[in-house]
Amino acid sequence: MKRMATIDTSPHTILAFCSPLYEDVALNELGTLLGARVLRKLSAGVFLLTVSHSPLDIQQRMLATPAVFTRQLLVDVETLPRSGLPAEDARAVLARPGVGSTPDVLVSDLAGRHPHDVVSLKQELTTASTPPTVRLDNGAEVEDEARLPFAVVVGEGHIYVGRVVAGAGLPHAPAWPAGRPDFPFDPELVSRSALKLLEALQLFDVNIGPAARALDLGAAPGGWSQVLAARGIEVTAVDPGLLDPRVASRPNVSVYAGTAQSFLRQTDERFDLIVNDMRLDSRESARILVDAVNVLRPQGVAIITLKLPEHAPTAILRQALEVLRRGFPVLQARCLYFNRNEVTVLARR
Ligand SMILES: C[S@@+](CC[C@H](N)C(=O)[O-])C[C@H]1O[C@@H](n2cnc3c(N)ncnc32)[C@H](O)[C@@H]1O
Repeated sequence: MKRMATIDTSPHTILAFCSPLYEDVALNELGTLLGARVLRKLSAGVFLLTVSHSPLDIQQRMLATPAVFTRQLLVDVETLPRSGLPAEDARAVLARPGVGSTPDVLVSDLAGRHPHDVVSLKQELTTASTPPTVRLDNGAEVEDEARLPFAVVVGEGHIYVGRVVAGAGLPHAPAWPAGRPDFPFDPELVSRSALKLLEALQLFDVNIGPAARALDLGAAPGGWSQVLAARGIEVTAVDPGLLDPRVASRPNVSVYAGTAQSFLRQTDERFDLIVNDMRLDSRESARILVDAVNVLRPQGVAIITLKLPEHAPTAILRQALEVLRRGFPVLQARCLYFNRNEVTVLARR
């Protein structure tokens, strides 16, 4: 098979996807974690970078210190010119050793979407590869470089082929193309915020059984309570604002119409999970969560979104994490795909 010319072909080229709101912070972070330097910006929140570490070394570094502001990372990235003909592009992609025989190839555009041309390329790859099949997503656990799944990312004039570092450092995270969760549209969700919790539960691999009790601080209009209640969890929803009646009327949701502070002063209940999406300064919100530690059962889990300013968010984030650590070991922090000016944190009592 004739191999097409490649550009930037180097085991030291990586492709990083981050929030367009926090590009500078994400690039600084990758500079600190990996010594990465920018080669080119490909799109909002999408960068080609160069590093001096090997792909395996990068994977180990990211697992040791997961990135907060990077949503997905591809290593060992090869840049191929795009011909515009799906069959020809597929041939060029399949010339990369291993791509055609792996079961786990993600195919998307730079935004993690699957427009017509991406679907055509994926079809060509599927037809041309040897079984097992090429898939758009996977949940593979990664142990070594050879098992890192391939990703094919279709840009304007180029196609990028690389290997996915699991969840940019979160070992059980699904390898969503470009870090964009592929949740099906659900018209029943009462708020977009619900998607943040769905994403956090999957990325952080949180499994709370249906017999559990959850406290939702800052619950209105009720997206997070809805997600938890749908899993059979008993939810106490706390907010001075109104909950959507579709959530408030559920038999396993009880509503406290007041602030988190006043609820915590009077409750003697105990919970397996506390979630906190309160629209407050992140340090104040973290303080309230630390005050709630006594109503969390041992081994109980807390998930909190820390609201950050657009400029220089890291100082505020550091302060909020310091406050949280007074109450809990902080396990993970990540600017999720569905987070805007915020970071979601997982802590455990
Ligand atoms: C982003 S919304 C929460 C959205 C919710 N997670 C959902 O999925 O629908 C933030 C909420 O925090 C609430 N809030 C702000 N300060 C609060 C406090 N001190 N106690 C309780 N709720 C508070 C606001 O009333 C608002 O409803």
